[in-house]
Amino acid sequence: MKDVDRIAPPGSEERKLLESIPPERFPKHVAIIMDGNGRWAKKRGLPRVEGHRAGIEAVRSTVEAAARLEIPVLTLYAFSTENWRRPRWEVLTLMALLKEYLNKELHTLVENNIRFRPIGRIHELEPEIQQGLAHAVEATAANTGLFFQIALNYSGRAELTDTVREAVRLAREGKLREDDVDEAWVAAHLATAGTPDPDLLIRTSGEMRISNFLLWQIAYTELVITPVLWPDFRARDLIAAVADYARRERRFGGVPEAEETEET
Ligand code: FPP
Repeated sequence: MKDVDRIAPPGSEERKLLESIPPERFPKHVAIIMDGNGRWAKKRGLPRVEGHRAGIEAVRSTVEAAARLEIPVLTLYAFSTENWRRPRWEVLTLMALLKEYLNKELHTLVENNIRFRPIGRIHELEPEIQQGLAHAVEATAANTGLFFQIALNYSGRAELTDTVREAVRLAREGKLREDDVDEAWVAAHLATAGTPDPDLLIRTSGEMRISNFLLWQIAYTELVITPVLWPDFRARDLIAAVADYARRERRFGGVPEAEETEET
C-alpha cells in the first residue's frame, strides 16, 4: 500500500482523486520540465533568482510525492545546455542552489531509499559540483525505491550527439558493427540507459514546448501541461497530472486494444 497520508490526507480532494486511479494505470516514469520560476518571482516583485530558490521547495516536495506514490522513475529538467546563456548571476545562483540541494537533501534521499543519478554533460560542470553529484550517486547506489534523475547541462540533441560520437569511436576501435546498431543499442547508450521511456511528461507554467528535453525517449510519451508555476507545484498537482494521464488511451502508433480484437 502506498504511503500517501502525508501528501494526500484521508478525505481530501487529492486523496479522492488518487483513489480513483486504478493501480495499473500509474506511470512508471514521470519527467518534468520545471518552468515558470521567473514569472513566479516577477508576480511578487522579486528578482528571478528568488523564483529558483522557491523552486527548490517544489523539487523537494515533488521528489517526496513521487516516492510516496511509488512511481519508479522521476526525471527533472534542472539546467539545459542552453541555460548557460542566461545572465551570469542567474547561472551562478542556480549552481549554488544545486550545491545547497545536494548538501541539505542527500540524507533525505538516503533515508527514503531514493537512488540518484544526474544526466547530462556533467564533466563540464565545476569540479565541486561534480564531486557532490558523484558522492550522491555513490551514497544512494544501493537504494531500491524511487530512481530520481536530474538533468543538468542536458539537452536531447547533445545527448544524441554524444551517443553518435560513442558509436563512431567504438566502430573505429573495431568494437561495433553497423548491424549492432538498432533502437535498443541507441537507448542503451543514452544518458537514461536502464530506465523505461517516460510515460508522462509534465510541463509547468502553461508553455507548449519540449525545449530539447529527452527527445529520443518521449516518442510516445503523454503530455500534461499545467498552468501552475513551478515554485507552486506540489503533490496535489502531481496527482492531478497522474489522474489525467491515467484516463488517456495509449496507442503507440497502433489501434486501441478494444478495436484490435473486433475482427478476430
Ligand atoms: C525555469 O524557470 C526553471 C529553470 C531554468 C531551472 C529550474 C531550476 C530549479 C527548479 C531550481 C534549481 C533546482 C536544482 C535542484 C538545481 P524560468 O526561469 O525559465 O521561468 P520563466 O519562464 O517564468 O522565466
